[in-house]
Amino acid sequence: MEELLKIDSIEKYYGSRSNLTKAIDNLSLSVASGEFVAIMGASGSGKTTLLNCISTIDRVSSGHIFVGGMDITTLRGNNLNKFRREDLGFIFQDFNLLDTMTAFENIALALSIQNTRVGDIKGMILKTAVALGIDGLLHKYPYQLSGGEKQRVAAARAIITNPKLVLADEPTGALDSKSAKKLLHAMTDMNQKMGATILMVTHDSYTASYAGRVIFIKDGKVFHELNKGEDTRKEFFHKIMDVVSLLGGELDDDM
Ligand SMILES: Nc1ncnc2c1ncn2[C@@H]1O[C@H](COP(=O)(O)OP(=O)(O)O)[C@@H](O)[C@H]1O
Ligand SMILES: [Mg+2]
Repeated sequence: MEELLKIDSIEKYYGSRSNLTKAIDNLSLSVASGEFVAIMGASGSGKTTLLNCISTIDRVSSGHIFVGGMDITTLRGNNLNKFRREDLGFIFQDFNLLDTMTAFENIALALSIQNTRVGDIKGMILKTAVALGIDGLLHKYPYQLSGGEKQRVAAARAIITNPKLVLADEPTGALDSKSAKKLLHAMTDMNQKMGATILMVTHDSYTASYAGRVIFIKDGKVFHELNKGEDTRKEFFHKIMDVVSLLGGELDDDM
């Protein structure tokens, strides 16, 4: 498989000289096109910082990040906006839906920013909504939706532009277990049926078990990796739990 994301020895420091935090410490990893990868780590291990560096919300202190062969750490101005708008999709824990717009309009907004032809918008949204099981909810406003439904609308918005890479930060963090399961099934479909490459950050073993590969980070460094291979989701979950308990089991109770 073609390499889509390559993170090459990045470091990220926060703060001033007298009060320096090393959030990412010489971290390297690659994600192939079509993969669904989870990054797991305890609270404070650098997961959000890593995603923020990939999404260019934050800048690396050193090292390079390549998406589709392009070094995104050197992008500026219009090229940076174009990269964010066309190459990335985001699913955040707190949804980021606009309250004054319906689910349909929230999803359409992502397309209108991209100059999609007006005549194409409705069909594209309906197709994605059916795939994510939200086609009956498109006329509703965010306040009329459950947490899990809002999150699936956010997932539709993230993928509707057909981005190279979907980034998700603790997407199930605010959901009950039933909603989490639905969202994870939707993300699996995004990956397997719609061809999205997904990089998801989580501290939760169950959530991570939906990915095809799990990369464990600690103190801003990669320290272990598991491949699902031919395992069932359940078998993979138990392997993930074994690594988590090796770490002292601190991952799952930090939120
Ligand atoms: N904006 C910031 N300013 C200073 N320190 C930060 C900032 N963001 C994160 N950190 C620190 O960097 C480390 C990693 O944080 P973060 O990436 O948010 O971890 P995680 O998402 O795994 O919980 C923590 O020690 C955190 O306190
Ligand atoms: Mg975080």
